[in-house]
Amino acid sequence: MSTHILPIEQYLSLDDNQCKPGIIAAKQALGNQLIILGHHYQRETVFKHADYTGDSLKLSRQASQSGAKYIVFCGVHFMAEVADILSGSEQIAILPDLEAGCPMADMANLKNVEQAWQDLSAIKPADEYITPVTYINSSAELKAFCGRHGGIVCTSSNAQQVLEWCFSQRKQVLFFPDQHLGRNTGYRMNIPLEQMVVWDFDKQHGGLAEKEINAAKIILWDGFCSVHQQFHPEHIDQFRANYPDGQVISHPECSFEVCQKSDEIGSTEYIIQAIKNSPTGSRWLVGTEINLVERLINESKLEGKFVHYMASVVCNCSTMYRIDPQHLLWVLENLANNNVVNQIEVSPQIKTQARLSLERMLEVSA
Ligand code: 13P
Ligand code: SF4
Repeated sequence: MSTHILPIEQYLSLDDNQCKPGIIAAKQALGNQLIILGHHYQRETVFKHADYTGDSLKLSRQASQSGAKYIVFCGVHFMAEVADILSGSEQIAILPDLEAGCPMADMANLKNVEQAWQDLSAIKPADEYITPVTYINSSAELKAFCGRHGGIVCTSSNAQQVLEWCFSQRKQVLFFPDQHLGRNTGYRMNIPLEQMVVWDFDKQHGGLAEKEINAAKIILWDGFCSVHQQFHPEHIDQFRANYPDGQVISHPECSFEVCQKSDEIGSTEYIIQAIKNSPTGSRWLVGTEINLVERLINESKLEGKFVHYMASVVCNCSTMYRIDPQHLLWVLENLANNNVVNQIEVSPQIKTQARLSLERMLEVSA
């Protein structure tokens, strides 16, 4: 390990273009010791340096299969944690900016999930009747909670397979933190809305009566992604009025009403493939994060397709794409100098339990 860590300050004054040659040179110097993973929501100036891009499931698989010593994640905190959990003990996961997080993931924490479990167990033994499911957008601690309670992780692309697995194990599901992914998926599995209740973690017993809890198939955590709540059914009505032949595709983190009015629902990777596989001349209204939609607009134009962003105003997920070329260059040049900065390390006990729930997911969605 070199003793001289290159400080971030000397990188912050560089503009994006000045960072590019340094990133390319550091990648070359590190060779196959390094892999850069980039989520579809990342800004173009870092996304273009990724060795692998994908949705959360694809990138988790990549992290579990890569033999690289350093896994640099252009994404958010929970993604780098997953990379650390699923990779080998000699591998090092790095998040170029430690502030890169998911506000929705923070809507559930171990304390309030433990409290909910305790409240539910007061009605009947939760470990016998309820499978806890955490969306991958959650802390390692919550994945570990699921691991030790016979639960599982899901992503937006395998939520249905995961829920089917859950119902083959136990009668009910506690789904956190995203209520919309849970509800949209449950409804597609023919679970009526009345059998999906919302657990308000600020209220005693989730604000629910025992009768409501017993009648529910899915108990949904009261969490949501604010980026996907900017899309409204009126946006879809307006688009359809202007373009009757157009198609609408939304991420399952969108509201129930938006998903009901959409022609297709799917993960970021699914959205990309659906547009890629559509014929020339197709027109799409897309309900997901702006960096991805802008990339789709530009790439589709070259293929004679038209992509529109669903909302009229853009409300960015600023914590999601905090990773910028300056921070990427900083971590890579440090690695090339044998310095590890911004390592994401999950404690051994949490790691073992979290790996259980992640491996169940990978198995179910193989
Ligand atoms: P995907 O798994 O569809 O990429 O969604 C991840 C996500 O929610 C990041 O916000
Ligand atoms: Fe989290 Fe939503 Fe941002 Fe994704 S877009 S990181 S779910 S807040």
